[in-house]
Amino acid sequence: MQPDEIARIHEEALAEAREADSADALEAVRLKYLSRKGLVQDIMASLKTAAPADRPAIGQAANRLRAELLDAVNRRREKLAEAAETSGPAFDITLPGRWPGLGSIHPVSGMIAQCADIFRSMGFTVADGPDIETAFHNFDALNHPPGHPARDPRDTFYLEDGTLLRTHTSPVQVRYMQAHPPPVRIIAPGRTYRRDTPDATHSSNFHQIEGLYVADRVSLADLKGDLTYFASQLLGARVQVRFRPHFFPFTEPSVEVDFSCHVCGGQGCRVCKQSGWIEIGGAGMVDPNVYTAVGYDPEAVTGYAFGLGVERMAMIFHGIPDIRLLYENDVRFLAQF
Ligand code: DAH
Repeated sequence: MQPDEIARIHEEALAEAREADSADALEAVRLKYLSRKGLVQDIMASLKTAAPADRPAIGQAANRLRAELLDAVNRRREKLAEAAETSGPAFDITLPGRWPGLGSIHPVSGMIAQCADIFRSMGFTVADGPDIETAFHNFDALNHPPGHPARDPRDTFYLEDGTLLRTHTSPVQVRYMQAHPPPVRIIAPGRTYRRDTPDATHSSNFHQIEGLYVADRVSLADLKGDLTYFASQLLGARVQVRFRPHFFPFTEPSVEVDFSCHVCGGQGCRVCKQSGWIEIGGAGMVDPNVYTAVGYDPEAVTGYAFGLGVERMAMIFHGIPDIRLLYENDVRFLAQF
């Protein structure tokens, strides 16, 4: 075979490999040139009849052709495979869309928003404070004596630098009074942390809504009236509010606050453990020692404070039997709200 003919075959072979538009077409090109009965083999066979002086050139040309063509075929194969991956079937724009589902507000966030709306309508503003607190704001200024059991590391999460994860939202009272002269009327919703073993009614991370109203003539009757009004806005006019005497270091007197059971209307059921009442939080008249700690004159002001459990309220409002449901993020549960 003449060198110019080999050169022509070489050109054609590379062009065919480059232009093959499917894996099958490419394979046909490969067989046409490189198989045992292919054209490269024909060139080699022609060596026998070629003039001895021409043989080295013909052999070299055939080898070059084989190598370059193999390379071209491999590269074309990769190109075709890549294209097959990225081009699916044509998109049918007449198909109906796929419904991705609509998110919903988490019942804890929803309860905070609902309560904040009610308290705002009563003249409260919304304040907040940090989750990581100093022992001063969380305990000392709130009249906890040095050995108070709530300070125990078995109950409170301490950080290495001596700060802690706030065990209640009450430190926001301290921060707010330090920064604002009386009168103050605030709520402070937020996360709180305690080393509790989780069960149906306990979680180591839960939420409270702190309330604080300090002016010149605030009484326990204001506290009861305001919380009763709040409860009626949240749960309906029939709900009743009950105070039970209690002790908190930062209030005097102190009470625990119960709402009549929303689920059974006070008759007694599983949710209220047959008592007809559900404990919602604590409250009381701000202790004079707290005023002193924040720089208020205890002779000049009086005020009430309360701390309500958000999960408690969400559970009775929605009839949720186990607090852990609120933190498992099971979409089948959350989609109901
Ligand atoms: N901080 C208390 C607790 O977590 C709740 C509480 C009680 C808050 C009485 C108050 C209050 O503001 O006056 O158990």
